[in-house]
Amino acid sequence: MENHPSPSRTPDAGSDQPHDLMRDKISVLEKRNAELREKIRHLEVDKRDADNLKIRYERELRKVKSEIEHLRTPPLVVGTITDVVNRDMAVVRSSAGPQFLVKASNLINPEQLKPGVRCTLNQQSLAIIDLLPCSYDAHIRGTEVIEAPHETYDDIGGLEKQIEEIREAVELPLTNPELFRDLGVSPPKGVLLKGTPGTGKTLLARAVAHETNATFLRVIGSELVQKYIGEGARLVRELFDLAEQKAPSIIFIDEIDAIGAYRSDSSTSGDREVQRTLMQLLAEMDGFDNRGEVRIIGATNRIDILDQALLRPGRFDRIIEIPLPDLEGRISILKIHTRGMSLDEDVDLEAVARLTEEKNGADLWAICTEAGMFAIRARHNTVRHDDFLNAIRKVSADFGLHRIGTSYGAMFA
Ligand SMILES: Nc1ncnc2c1ncn2[C@@H]1O[C@H](COP(=O)(O)OP(=O)(O)OP(=O)(O)O)[C@@H](O)[C@H]1O
Ligand SMILES: [Mg+2]
Repeated sequence: MENHPSPSRTPDAGSDQPHDLMRDKISVLEKRNAELREKIRHLEVDKRDADNLKIRYERELRKVKSEIEHLRTPPLVVGTITDVVNRDMAVVRSSAGPQFLVKASNLINPEQLKPGVRCTLNQQSLAIIDLLPCSYDAHIRGTEVIEAPHETYDDIGGLEKQIEEIREAVELPLTNPELFRDLGVSPPKGVLLKGTPGTGKTLLARAVAHETNATFLRVIGSELVQKYIGEGARLVRELFDLAEQKAPSIIFIDEIDAIGAYRSDSSTSGDREVQRTLMQLLAEMDGFDNRGEVRIIGATNRIDILDQALLRPGRFDRIIEIPLPDLEGRISILKIHTRGMSLDEDVDLEAVARLTEEKNGADLWAICTEAGMFAIRARHNTVRHDDFLNAIRKVSADFGLHRIGTSYGAMFA
C-alpha cells in the first residue's frame, strides 16, 4: 500500500512536459477568466446605464400619457347660476340658452353658491363642478381705461360751448355733488354726443377721460352685440355693475347706434338679440336700482336711426350737437394740428380756414398732414402756404367725391 504510486505522481514520474503544458493551459485559462470578468464588469455597467435609461423613458412615457389624458378630458360648459334651490341644488343657465336644475359638487362652499355667479358644468350631467373666480366677463374688465389718453381739452378746436356743456353734465356732478344736493336737483345722468363723422366726438370723450379722475369705462356699441341669447344684455348689466363698483365712474358708449337703432317689427333672431341688449341698456339707464355716481356718455353719427326710447329725457339728459366747425373753429383746429409743424411765414391759416368750408376736423387734420407731405416731397424745410393749397385740393379730391351732402344719413335713407 505504501508503494502504491499516487495517480498524481504518475505524470511527474514520466516527464516534465505534461506538467508545463498544464501550466500553460492554466495561465491561458486564467487570462481568459480575467478577460471575461472584465467583460462582465463592462456589461454590468452597460446594464446599469440601460436600466437608468429605461426608468427615464418610463417616466417620460407616464408624463406624456397623463398629458394626453389631460387633453382628452371633455370641456366644461360655462353657465350662470340663476337660482339656488338648496345647499346642493341650483338652477343654471348654460351659455347655449336653456335652464337646468342641477346638482352642485360637494367641494363647493354653499355660501358662494349665489345667483349671478358664473360656474363650470359637467358636459353630461351639467353638475356644477366649480365656480369661476370673477363674475365679470374679461371683456367687460377690459373696458376700463387704465392709462389715460393724452388728449386734453386744449387739443379740441372750436367746441368750447360743447366742452362746457359736457363738463357741466358729466364732471360737475362727480366733483361737486353738493351743488345739486343743496338745490334739490337730481344731477344729469348722461349726455349723448351727436354729429357727422369726424367732428371730434370720440376725441371729446378721450379728453374727458384724460381730464377727470373718475374711472373711465369705454365700450364700442358693436362689442355689445353678441351671438347668444342674453349675452349682450349680460354684458350691459356687468358693465353697469362694474361702473357702480368703481364709482365715481363714466361709461362711454361709442357708436351707440350699433345697439340703439330703432326696433322694427320684422326682425331676425339676430335683431331680437340686439333689441334685448338695448332694452337692458334702457333699464340700466333708468337706474331702477340707484347707480350712484355713474355717468354715461354716448356718441353717434346716426342719431336719425336711434330708438326714440333712448332719446327721451331721463335717459340722456342732454343731447349735445357736435357741429361741423365754423370759421373760428376751423382756424383753431388748424392751429392745433400745425402746433408741432415748422410753418413758413407766408402761411395764412385763416385763408386756409376760409377755403375749407364744410370740412370737418378729421379733414383738417388730413390737410395739415398732406401739406407736410407736399413740403417733404419738395424738400422744403418749412411748410409753405402753397403746400396747404395743394393739400386742400388733394384732400377734397380724395375724400370729397364720396360724400353726399353733409349728412351721411342721406346715403342710407
Ligand atoms: N374739433 C376738433 N379739434 C381737433 N381735432 C379734431 C376735431 N374734430 C376732429 N378732429 C380730428 O379728427 C380725428 C377724428 O375725430 P373723431 O374720431 O373724434 O371723430 P368722430 O366724431 O368720433 O367721428 P365718427 O362719428 O366717425 O366716430 C381726431 O383724431 C382729430 O385728429
Ligand atoms: Mg367716433
